[in-house]
Amino acid sequence: MQFQWYPGHMTKAKRAMQEDLKLIDVIVELVDARVPLSSKNPDIDQMANGKSRVILLNKYDLADDKKTQMWMEYYEGKGYFVTKVNSKNGTGVKAVQDIIRQACQEKIERDRKRGILNRPVRAMIVGIPNVGKSTFINSFAKKACTKTGNKPGVTKGKQWIRLNKNVELLDTPGILWPKFEDQKTGLRLAYIGSIKDELFNIYELSLLLLEYLHGYYPGAVSSFYQIEKEEDCAKQLELIAIRRGCMKAGGLYDVDKAAKCLVDDFRAGKLGKISLETPESV
Ligand code: G4P
Repeated sequence: MQFQWYPGHMTKAKRAMQEDLKLIDVIVELVDARVPLSSKNPDIDQMANGKSRVILLNKYDLADDKKTQMWMEYYEGKGYFVTKVNSKNGTGVKAVQDIIRQACQEKIERDRKRGILNRPVRAMIVGIPNVGKSTFINSFAKKACTKTGNKPGVTKGKQWIRLNKNVELLDTPGILWPKFEDQKTGLRLAYIGSIKDELFNIYELSLLLLEYLHGYYPGAVSSFYQIEKEEDCAKQLELIAIRRGCMKAGGLYDVDKAAKCLVDDFRAGKLGKISLETPESV
């Protein structure tokens, strides 16, 4: 399957983000816990330019707990401050304040030595589309009390969400673009819905997803749909079509509709807590 992706329209977003990066101390990067590497845009590393770095494994409610743990250790080993969050229901969100402080500890110390006390550290959320940036910011803001408002001269036009007296968060996230040089990464981004569905063939995508699920989470599909387990992925999809009543005129199975069902159910976590990559597969 071939993917095409033109990040041309991201140029503007990138420029805006570079401006915002000048205002902050720490980059808080959201990745999808089901694909913590594929959903990470490596270009942020050049743009980060010595800033403190935090990685949040968002949507961990949808990911395999064991694999999430492996990924946390993997990124910690690479020098990031890491935690997992469920932005949708708020689990783990409050703890992010402490992680941000920890990530900025050196800077806080430096400031202290120069006599700058009680200056809040400033953070910005970045991530590829659909990874949960807005949901996270809303959840974070709810836990915080007030918005500090504009700060003329220094942060013209910017809104900062004051989390506590120590941490402020820029209320607009930096949007990174999905980046993939190999087909596997592209596929994983498609499975989680970070690439527009129009860019790929949903039938082929669903067959590849079924193949992966049969290999790594055997039984997940058959038990959710209450159907026979079928090694042949095309036949498995037909069984899903029957179960879901996806039929076309003339009594034919509507496998495209079944494929969409499968992908949607996977994205919504209905097939179970499933991860699509491990640090070992890197
Ligand atoms: P973005 O700003 O990075 O583009 O992402 P956004 O917050 O819009 O979130 C994209 C989708 O991911 C939303 O679902 C949102 O609810 C969901 N989401 C965000 N964080 C989590 C999480 O930790 N766990 C789970 N399970 N889902 C999460 P949606 O279907 O587009 O909207 P909605 O129907 O949920 O409102």
